[in-house]
Amino acid sequence: MQTIIEPFRIKSVEPLRWTTRERREELLKAAGYNLFKLRAGDILIDLLTDSGTSAMSTEQWAAMMRGDESYAGSESFYRFEHAVKDLTGFQHVIPTHQGRAAERILFSILCKPGDIVPNNTHFDTTRANIEFNGATAVNLPVPAASDTQARLPFKGNMDVYALERLIENEGVDRIPLVMITITNNSGGGQPVSMANLEAIRRVTAQRGIPLYLDACRFAENAWFIKRDEPGYERLSPREIACKMFSLADGCTFSAKKDAFANIGGFLCTNNPRLAEQETNLLILTEGFPTYGGLAGRDLEAIAVGLEEVLQPEYLEYRIASTAYLGRHIADHGVPIVEPPGGHAIYIDAGRMLSHIPREQYPGQALAVELYRHAGIRSVEIGSVMFGKTAMHELLRLAIPRRVYTQSHIDYLVEAILEVNERRHEIRGFEIESEPEFLRHFSARFRPCPPVMHPA
Ligand SMILES: Cc1ncc(COP(=O)(O)O)c(C=O)c1O
Repeated sequence: MQTIIEPFRIKSVEPLRWTTRERREELLKAAGYNLFKLRAGDILIDLLTDSGTSAMSTEQWAAMMRGDESYAGSESFYRFEHAVKDLTGFQHVIPTHQGRAAERILFSILCKPGDIVPNNTHFDTTRANIEFNGATAVNLPVPAASDTQARLPFKGNMDVYALERLIENEGVDRIPLVMITITNNSGGGQPVSMANLEAIRRVTAQRGIPLYLDACRFAENAWFIKRDEPGYERLSPREIACKMFSLADGCTFSAKKDAFANIGGFLCTNNPRLAEQETNLLILTEGFPTYGGLAGRDLEAIAVGLEEVLQPEYLEYRIASTAYLGRHIADHGVPIVEPPGGHAIYIDAGRMLSHIPREQYPGQALAVELYRHAGIRSVEIGSVMFGKTAMHELLRLAIPRRVYTQSHIDYLVEAILEVNERRHEIRGFEIESEPEFLRHFSARFRPCPPVMHPA
Protein backbone atom coordinates (compact mmCIF):
# COMPACT_ATOMS: atom_id res chain seq x y z
CA MET A 1 0.00 0.00 0.00
CA GLN A 2 1.21 3.51 -0.85
CA THR A 3 -0.94 5.46 1.60
CA ILE A 4 0.78 6.22 4.88
CA ILE A 5 -1.82 6.26 7.64
CA GLU A 6 -1.79 7.43 11.25
CA PRO A 7 -0.39 4.35 13.04
CA PHE A 8 -2.96 4.58 15.85
CA ARG A 9 -6.70 4.78 16.43
CA ILE A 10 -8.36 7.25 18.76
CA LYS A 11 -9.85 6.18 22.09
CA SER A 12 -10.37 9.47 23.86
CA VAL A 13 -11.23 12.75 22.15
CA GLU A 14 -11.02 16.39 23.15
CA PRO A 15 -13.49 18.79 21.49
CA LEU A 16 -12.18 21.82 19.62
CA ARG A 17 -13.60 25.29 20.27
CA TRP A 18 -14.47 27.78 17.56
CA THR A 19 -14.32 31.57 17.95
CA THR A 20 -15.40 34.31 15.55
CA ARG A 21 -12.93 36.53 13.76
CA GLU A 22 -14.26 39.56 15.74
CA ARG A 23 -13.66 37.75 19.02
CA ARG A 24 -10.16 36.77 17.95
CA GLU A 25 -9.40 40.39 17.13
CA GLU A 26 -10.45 41.40 20.67
CA LEU A 27 -8.40 38.59 22.18
CA LEU A 28 -5.34 39.59 20.16
CA LYS A 29 -5.59 43.21 21.32
CA ALA A 30 -5.96 42.15 24.96
CA ALA A 31 -2.91 39.86 24.61
CA GLY A 32 -0.73 42.64 23.20
CA TYR A 33 -0.55 40.62 19.96
CA ASN A 34 1.55 38.02 21.77
CA LEU A 35 0.13 34.54 21.11
CA PHE A 36 1.79 33.13 24.24
CA LYS A 37 -0.69 35.24 26.19
CA LEU A 38 -3.82 33.73 24.66
CA ARG A 39 -5.84 31.15 26.55
CA ALA A 40 -5.56 27.72 24.95
CA GLY A 41 -9.35 27.42 24.97
CA ASP A 42 -9.52 30.27 22.47
CA ILE A 43 -7.40 28.38 19.93
CA LEU A 44 -8.72 26.02 17.29
CA ILE A 45 -5.51 24.33 16.15
CA ASP A 46 -2.51 24.85 18.39
CA LEU A 47 0.85 24.62 16.66
CA LEU A 48 2.71 26.77 19.16
CA THR A 49 4.91 23.83 20.07
CA ASP A 50 5.39 20.10 19.79
CA SER A 51 6.70 20.16 23.36
CA GLY A 52 4.63 18.46 26.04
CA THR A 53 1.64 18.39 23.71
CA SER A 54 1.79 14.74 22.58
CA ALA A 55 -1.12 12.35 22.93
CA MET A 56 0.01 9.54 25.21
CA SER A 57 -0.61 5.92 24.30
CA THR A 58 -2.67 3.33 26.17
CA GLU A 59 0.63 1.73 27.25
CA GLN A 60 1.85 5.01 28.69
CA TRP A 61 -1.40 5.59 30.62
CA ALA A 62 -1.27 2.02 31.87
CA ALA A 63 2.35 2.45 32.98
CA MET A 64 1.40 5.63 34.84
CA MET A 65 -0.86 3.57 37.09
CA ARG A 66 2.27 1.66 38.13
CA GLY A 67 3.94 4.91 39.21
CA ASP A 68 5.81 4.43 42.48
CA GLU A 69 5.68 7.74 44.30
CA SER A 70 8.26 6.84 46.98
CA TYR A 71 10.49 9.78 47.84
CA ALA A 72 13.67 7.70 47.65
CA GLY A 73 14.47 4.61 45.59
CA SER A 74 11.23 4.62 43.58
CA GLU A 75 10.80 1.57 41.36
CA SER A 76 9.65 3.93 38.61
CA PHE A 77 13.04 5.60 38.68
CA TYR A 78 14.81 2.30 38.06
CA ARG A 79 12.55 1.51 35.10
CA PHE A 80 13.19 5.02 33.73
CA GLU A 81 16.93 4.78 34.33
CA HIS A 82 17.07 1.39 32.62
CA ALA A 83 15.21 2.74 29.54
CA VAL A 84 17.54 5.75 29.28
CA LYS A 85 20.76 3.78 29.82
CA ASP A 86 19.68 1.09 27.39
CA LEU A 87 19.12 3.72 24.69
CA THR A 88 21.92 6.19 25.36
CA GLY A 89 24.62 4.06 26.96
CA PHE A 90 25.46 6.90 29.38
CA GLN A 91 26.51 5.85 32.87
CA HIS A 92 24.83 8.57 34.92
CA VAL A 93 21.19 9.57 34.38
CA ILE A 94 19.74 12.53 36.24
CA PRO A 95 15.98 13.13 35.94
CA THR A 96 14.78 16.74 35.64
CA HIS A 97 11.36 18.31 35.32
CA GLN A 98 12.10 19.39 31.73
CA GLY A 99 14.93 20.08 29.31
CA ARG A 100 15.86 23.54 30.51
CA ALA A 101 16.36 22.29 34.08
CA ALA A 102 18.98 19.90 32.72
CA GLU A 103 20.55 22.82 30.83
CA ARG A 104 20.58 25.04 33.89
CA ILE A 105 22.35 22.39 35.98
CA LEU A 106 24.87 21.53 33.26
CA PHE A 107 25.79 25.10 32.29
CA SER A 108 25.94 26.45 35.81
CA ILE A 109 28.60 23.84 36.58
CA LEU A 110 30.55 23.92 33.32
CA CYS A 111 30.32 27.58 32.24
CA LYS A 112 31.97 30.65 33.72
CA PRO A 113 32.11 34.26 32.49
CA GLY A 114 34.21 34.54 29.33
CA ASP A 115 33.55 30.96 28.18
CA ILE A 116 32.14 30.10 24.77
CA VAL A 117 29.69 27.30 23.94
CA PRO A 118 29.36 26.43 20.25
CA ASN A 119 26.25 24.68 18.88
CA ASN A 120 24.89 24.07 15.38
CA THR A 121 22.12 26.45 16.51
CA HIS A 122 21.24 27.12 20.13
CA PHE A 123 17.64 26.82 21.19
CA ASP A 124 16.40 29.87 23.12
CA THR A 125 16.61 28.19 26.54
CA THR A 126 20.13 26.84 25.95
CA ARG A 127 21.28 30.28 24.85
CA ALA A 128 19.59 31.96 27.82
CA ASN A 129 21.04 29.48 30.34
CA ILE A 130 24.55 29.90 28.90
CA GLU A 131 24.30 33.68 28.90
CA PHE A 132 22.88 33.67 32.42
CA ASN A 133 26.19 32.13 33.51
CA GLY A 134 28.18 34.87 31.78
CA ALA A 135 29.31 32.70 28.85
CA THR A 136 28.70 33.30 25.15
CA ALA A 137 26.51 31.02 23.01
CA VAL A 138 27.83 30.75 19.45
CA ASN A 139 25.93 29.27 16.49
CA LEU A 140 27.98 27.45 13.85
CA PRO A 141 25.49 26.21 11.23
CA VAL A 142 26.74 24.99 7.85
CA PRO A 143 26.66 27.64 5.10
CA ALA A 144 23.79 25.79 3.33
CA ALA A 145 21.55 26.59 6.32
CA SER A 146 21.53 30.26 5.34
CA ASP A 147 19.59 29.48 2.15
CA THR A 148 16.08 28.54 3.25
CA GLN A 149 15.25 27.40 -0.29
CA ALA A 150 18.13 24.94 -0.78
CA ARG A 151 16.68 21.42 -0.86
CA LEU A 152 19.67 19.65 0.65
CA PRO A 153 19.68 16.91 3.25
CA PHE A 154 21.20 17.52 6.70
CA LYS A 155 21.08 21.30 6.71
CA GLY A 156 21.12 21.01 10.51
CA ASN A 157 24.82 20.09 10.46
CA MET A 158 27.49 22.06 12.28
CA ASP A 159 30.22 23.77 10.26
CA VAL A 160 33.20 21.63 11.31
CA TYR A 161 35.77 23.97 9.78
CA ALA A 162 34.24 26.95 11.64
CA LEU A 163 34.38 24.93 14.88
CA GLU A 164 38.08 24.18 14.38
CA ARG A 165 38.79 27.85 13.70
CA LEU A 166 36.83 28.97 16.75
CA ILE A 167 38.77 26.58 18.99
CA GLU A 168 42.06 27.73 17.47
CA ASN A 169 41.25 31.43 17.86
CA GLU A 170 39.67 31.33 21.31
CA GLY A 171 41.63 28.48 22.90
CA VAL A 172 40.50 25.14 24.28
CA ASP A 173 40.35 26.49 27.83
CA ARG A 174 37.52 28.86 26.98
CA ILE A 175 35.31 26.11 25.50
CA PRO A 176 33.92 23.93 28.29
CA LEU A 177 31.77 21.89 25.90
CA VAL A 178 30.49 21.68 22.34
CA MET A 179 26.81 21.01 21.85
CA ILE A 180 24.86 19.65 18.86
CA THR A 181 21.08 20.01 18.69
CA ILE A 182 19.36 17.07 17.00
CA THR A 183 17.27 17.89 15.12
CA ASN A 184 18.21 21.53 14.78
CA ASN A 185 15.03 23.17 16.05
CA SER A 186 15.99 26.83 15.68
CA GLY A 187 17.62 26.01 12.35
CA GLY A 188 14.38 24.91 10.71
CA GLY A 189 14.02 21.46 12.31
CA GLN A 190 16.72 20.18 9.98
CA PRO A 191 18.55 16.94 10.83
CA VAL A 192 22.23 16.35 11.56
CA SER A 193 24.02 13.56 9.71
CA MET A 194 25.99 10.79 11.38
CA ALA A 195 29.02 11.84 9.32
CA ASN A 196 28.80 15.33 10.80
CA LEU A 197 28.46 13.97 14.34
CA GLU A 198 31.49 11.78 13.74
CA ALA A 199 33.53 14.69 12.39
CA ILE A 200 32.66 16.85 15.39
CA ARG A 201 33.47 13.97 17.69
CA ARG A 202 36.94 13.76 16.13
CA VAL A 203 37.56 17.50 16.57
CA THR A 204 36.38 17.58 20.20
CA ALA A 205 38.03 14.31 21.24
CA GLN A 206 41.42 15.39 19.85
CA ARG A 207 41.24 18.53 21.99
CA GLY A 208 39.69 16.98 25.08
CA ILE A 209 36.47 19.03 24.86
CA PRO A 210 33.27 17.23 25.96
CA LEU A 211 30.63 16.81 23.26
CA TYR A 212 26.98 17.03 24.32
CA LEU A 213 23.81 16.31 22.41
CA ASP A 214 20.73 18.45 22.89
CA ALA A 215 18.81 15.29 22.10
CA CYS A 216 15.14 16.40 22.28
CA ARG A 217 14.30 15.01 18.83
CA PHE A 218 16.84 12.19 18.58
CA ALA A 219 14.33 9.72 17.08
CA GLU A 220 13.26 12.04 14.26
CA ASN A 221 16.94 12.70 13.57
CA ALA A 222 17.60 8.95 13.47
CA TRP A 223 14.81 8.51 10.90
CA PHE A 224 16.31 11.15 8.59
CA ILE A 225 19.68 9.37 8.82
CA LYS A 226 18.00 6.06 7.95
CA ARG A 227 16.15 7.64 5.03
CA ASP A 228 18.81 9.93 3.60
CA GLU A 229 22.33 8.94 4.67
CA PRO A 230 24.00 6.20 2.63
CA GLY A 231 24.91 3.14 4.67
CA TYR A 232 22.13 3.46 7.26
CA GLU A 233 19.07 2.27 5.29
CA ARG A 234 19.20 -1.20 6.83
CA LEU A 235 19.75 -0.17 10.44
CA SER A 236 16.77 0.26 12.76
CA PRO A 237 16.02 3.72 14.21
CA ARG A 238 17.12 2.36 17.60
CA GLU A 239 20.48 1.18 16.25
CA ILE A 240 21.05 4.57 14.66
CA ALA A 241 20.00 6.41 17.82
CA CYS A 242 22.37 4.29 19.93
CA LYS A 243 25.22 5.12 17.57
CA MET A 244 24.45 8.85 17.77
CA PHE A 245 24.53 8.78 21.58
CA SER A 246 27.72 6.71 21.58
CA LEU A 247 29.56 9.60 19.91
CA ALA A 248 28.78 12.01 22.76
CA ASP A 249 30.01 12.47 26.33
CA GLY A 250 26.61 13.43 27.62
CA CYS A 251 23.24 14.88 26.70
CA THR A 252 20.41 17.10 27.79
CA PHE A 253 16.94 15.89 26.92
CA SER A 254 13.42 17.23 27.06
CA ALA A 255 11.08 14.22 27.33
CA LYS A 256 8.29 16.55 26.17
CA LYS A 257 9.32 15.88 22.57
CA ASP A 258 10.59 12.46 21.49
CA ALA A 259 9.38 10.60 24.59
CA PHE A 260 5.69 11.51 24.13
CA ALA A 261 5.56 12.75 27.73
CA ASN A 262 3.69 15.83 28.87
CA ILE A 263 6.51 16.77 31.24
CA GLY A 264 10.03 15.60 32.05
CA GLY A 265 13.62 15.55 30.97
CA PHE A 266 17.06 14.29 31.89
CA LEU A 267 20.75 15.04 31.95
CA CYS A 268 23.33 12.34 31.22
CA THR A 269 27.08 12.08 31.54
CA ASN A 270 29.83 9.49 31.67
CA ASN A 271 31.90 11.64 34.05
CA PRO A 272 31.39 10.50 37.69
CA ARG A 273 32.82 13.70 39.21
CA LEU A 274 30.49 15.86 37.11
CA ALA A 275 27.55 13.58 37.88
CA GLU A 276 28.16 14.14 41.58
CA GLN A 277 28.20 17.93 41.19
CA GLU A 278 25.07 17.77 39.05
CA THR A 279 23.28 15.59 41.57
CA ASN A 280 24.09 18.03 44.37
CA LEU A 281 22.55 20.87 42.38
CA LEU A 282 19.60 18.67 41.46
CA ILE A 283 18.81 18.07 45.13
CA LEU A 284 18.96 21.80 45.78
CA THR A 285 16.43 22.82 43.15
CA GLU A 286 14.73 19.83 41.49
CA GLY A 287 14.45 17.04 44.04
CA PHE A 288 15.95 13.78 45.26
CA PRO A 289 18.04 11.97 42.58
CA THR A 290 15.45 9.20 42.09
CA TYR A 291 12.70 11.60 41.01
CA GLY A 292 14.35 14.96 40.19
CA GLY A 293 11.28 17.15 39.99
CA LEU A 294 9.00 14.49 38.49
CA ALA A 295 6.31 12.22 39.84
CA GLY A 296 6.96 8.47 39.62
CA ARG A 297 4.16 8.24 37.06
CA ASP A 298 5.95 10.76 34.80
CA LEU A 299 9.10 8.63 34.90
CA GLU A 300 6.97 5.64 33.81
CA ALA A 301 5.47 7.56 30.87
CA ILE A 302 8.94 8.58 29.69
CA ALA A 303 10.30 5.02 29.92
CA VAL A 304 7.49 3.72 27.69
CA GLY A 305 7.63 6.73 25.34
CA LEU A 306 11.34 6.21 24.65
CA GLU A 307 10.49 2.74 23.31
CA GLU A 308 7.43 3.76 21.30
CA VAL A 309 9.04 6.72 19.57
CA LEU A 310 11.55 4.46 17.79
CA GLN A 311 8.91 2.32 16.08
CA PRO A 312 9.56 2.59 12.32
CA GLU A 313 5.82 2.87 11.42
CA TYR A 314 5.47 5.83 13.77
CA LEU A 315 8.57 7.61 12.48
CA GLU A 316 7.66 7.04 8.85
CA TYR A 317 4.18 8.52 9.46
CA ARG A 318 5.57 11.38 11.54
CA ILE A 319 8.10 12.59 8.99
CA ALA A 320 5.71 12.01 6.05
CA SER A 321 2.84 13.92 7.68
CA THR A 322 5.04 16.93 8.43
CA ALA A 323 6.27 16.88 4.82
CA TYR A 324 2.62 16.67 3.63
CA LEU A 325 1.90 20.07 5.18
CA GLY A 326 5.16 21.50 3.87
CA ARG A 327 4.74 20.31 0.29
CA HIS A 328 1.09 21.39 0.08
CA ILE A 329 1.86 24.97 0.99
CA ALA A 330 5.29 25.24 -0.67
CA ASP A 331 4.04 23.86 -3.98
CA HIS A 332 1.42 26.65 -3.98
CA GLY A 333 3.92 29.44 -3.50
CA VAL A 334 4.47 29.75 0.25
CA PRO A 335 8.21 29.85 0.95
CA ILE A 336 9.13 27.31 3.61
CA VAL A 337 12.47 26.24 4.96
CA GLU A 338 13.36 23.48 2.54
CA PRO A 339 13.32 20.57 2.80
CA PRO A 340 10.53 20.01 5.38
CA GLY A 341 11.95 19.25 8.83
CA GLY A 342 10.87 16.65 11.37
CA HIS A 343 8.61 18.25 13.95
CA ALA A 344 7.58 21.44 12.23
CA ILE A 345 7.20 23.40 9.05
CA TYR A 346 8.89 26.78 9.08
CA ILE A 347 7.51 29.46 6.79
CA ASP A 348 10.15 31.95 5.67
CA ALA A 349 8.09 34.95 6.75
CA GLY A 350 10.86 37.38 5.80
CA ARG A 351 10.53 36.17 2.23
CA MET A 352 6.74 35.79 2.18
CA LEU A 353 6.16 39.25 3.70
CA SER A 354 9.06 40.96 1.98
CA HIS A 355 7.33 44.34 2.40
CA ILE A 356 7.76 44.10 6.20
CA PRO A 357 11.29 44.96 7.37
CA ARG A 358 13.09 42.82 9.94
CA GLU A 359 12.63 45.50 12.61
CA GLN A 360 8.87 45.08 12.21
CA TYR A 361 8.94 41.32 12.81
CA PRO A 362 7.44 39.63 9.75
CA GLY A 363 7.24 36.29 11.61
CA GLN A 364 5.21 37.83 14.40
CA ALA A 365 2.96 39.58 11.86
CA LEU A 366 2.26 36.28 10.12
CA ALA A 367 1.58 34.47 13.41
CA VAL A 368 -0.97 37.12 14.37
CA GLU A 369 -2.63 36.97 10.96
CA LEU A 370 -2.96 33.17 10.98
CA TYR A 371 -4.68 33.32 14.35
CA ARG A 372 -6.92 36.20 13.30
CA HIS A 373 -7.89 34.41 10.07
CA ALA A 374 -8.37 30.82 11.20
CA GLY A 375 -7.75 30.41 14.94
CA ILE A 376 -4.36 28.75 14.36
CA ARG A 377 -1.58 29.40 16.86
CA SER A 378 2.04 29.27 15.69
CA VAL A 379 5.26 30.88 16.89
CA GLU A 380 7.75 33.40 15.56
CA ILE A 381 11.32 32.11 15.35
CA GLY A 382 13.24 35.18 14.30
CA SER A 383 14.15 38.60 15.64
CA VAL A 384 11.52 38.52 18.39
CA MET A 385 12.93 35.28 19.78
CA PHE A 386 16.63 35.76 19.04
CA GLY A 387 17.12 39.52 18.64
CA LYS A 388 20.06 40.44 16.45
CA THR A 389 21.43 36.87 16.34
CA ALA A 390 18.42 35.65 14.31
CA MET A 391 19.53 34.21 10.99
CA HIS A 392 16.03 34.24 9.42
CA GLU A 393 12.55 35.60 10.11
CA LEU A 394 10.60 32.36 10.43
CA LEU A 395 7.17 31.27 11.52
CA ARG A 396 7.14 27.79 13.02
CA LEU A 397 4.15 25.50 12.70
CA ALA A 398 5.06 22.77 15.19
CA ILE A 399 3.09 19.56 14.92
CA PRO A 400 2.13 17.92 18.24
CA ARG A 401 2.78 14.17 18.15
CA ARG A 402 -0.21 11.86 17.48
CA VAL A 403 -2.70 14.73 18.04
CA TYR A 404 -4.00 16.09 14.72
CA THR A 405 -5.29 14.11 11.75
CA GLN A 406 -4.96 14.73 8.05
CA SER A 407 -8.16 16.81 7.85
CA HIS A 408 -6.76 19.21 10.45
CA ILE A 409 -3.68 19.55 8.27
CA ASP A 410 -5.87 20.15 5.20
CA TYR A 411 -7.63 22.96 7.10
CA LEU A 412 -4.22 24.48 7.87
CA VAL A 413 -3.19 24.30 4.24
CA GLU A 414 -6.37 26.09 3.18
CA ALA A 415 -5.93 28.82 5.81
CA ILE A 416 -2.27 29.43 5.01
CA LEU A 417 -2.91 29.66 1.28
CA GLU A 418 -5.73 32.17 1.87
CA VAL A 419 -3.47 34.32 4.04
CA ASN A 420 -0.75 34.07 1.39
CA GLU A 421 -3.20 35.39 -1.26
CA ARG A 422 -3.54 38.71 0.58
CA ARG A 423 -0.10 38.86 2.17
CA HIS A 424 0.49 42.43 0.94
CA GLU A 425 -2.18 43.72 3.34
CA ILE A 426 -0.41 42.32 6.42
CA ARG A 427 1.23 44.91 8.68
CA GLY A 428 4.35 44.67 10.82
CA PHE A 429 4.62 45.17 14.58
CA GLU A 430 6.74 47.09 17.04
CA ILE A 431 7.51 46.08 20.59
CA GLU A 432 5.66 48.11 23.22
CA SER A 433 7.25 46.57 26.33
CA GLU A 434 9.62 43.67 26.91
CA PRO A 435 11.44 41.80 29.70
CA GLU A 436 15.20 41.17 29.79
CA PHE A 437 15.15 37.40 29.03
CA LEU A 438 13.06 35.29 26.65
CA ARG A 439 11.07 38.28 25.52
CA HIS A 440 8.90 36.32 23.11
CA PHE A 441 7.01 34.89 26.10
CA SER A 442 5.76 38.18 27.44
CA ALA A 443 6.57 41.15 25.20
CA ARG A 444 3.60 43.28 24.14
CA PHE A 445 3.37 44.46 20.55
CA ARG A 446 1.49 47.15 18.66
CA PRO A 447 0.73 47.20 14.93
CA CYS A 448 2.85 49.50 12.77
CA PRO A 449 1.14 51.98 10.47
CA PRO A 450 0.19 50.49 7.07
CA VAL A 451 3.01 50.24 4.53
CA MET A 452 2.64 52.78 1.71
CA HIS A 453 3.11 51.05 -1.63
CA PRO A 454 4.52 53.19 -4.44
CA ALA A 455 1.83 53.91 -7.05
C1 LIG B 1 16.16 21.97 20.90
C2 LIG B 1 15.57 22.24 22.25
N1 LIG B 1 16.35 22.24 23.33
C3 LIG B 1 15.85 22.45 24.55
C4 LIG B 1 14.51 22.69 24.75
C5 LIG B 1 14.01 22.95 26.15
O1 LIG B 1 13.21 21.92 26.63
P1 LIG B 1 12.04 22.19 27.69
O2 LIG B 1 10.99 22.99 27.00
O3 LIG B 1 11.58 20.85 28.09
O4 LIG B 1 12.63 22.94 28.83
C6 LIG B 1 13.66 22.69 23.66
C7 LIG B 1 12.22 22.96 23.84
O5 LIG B 1 11.48 23.21 22.95
C8 LIG B 1 14.20 22.45 22.36
O6 LIG B 1 13.43 22.42 21.27
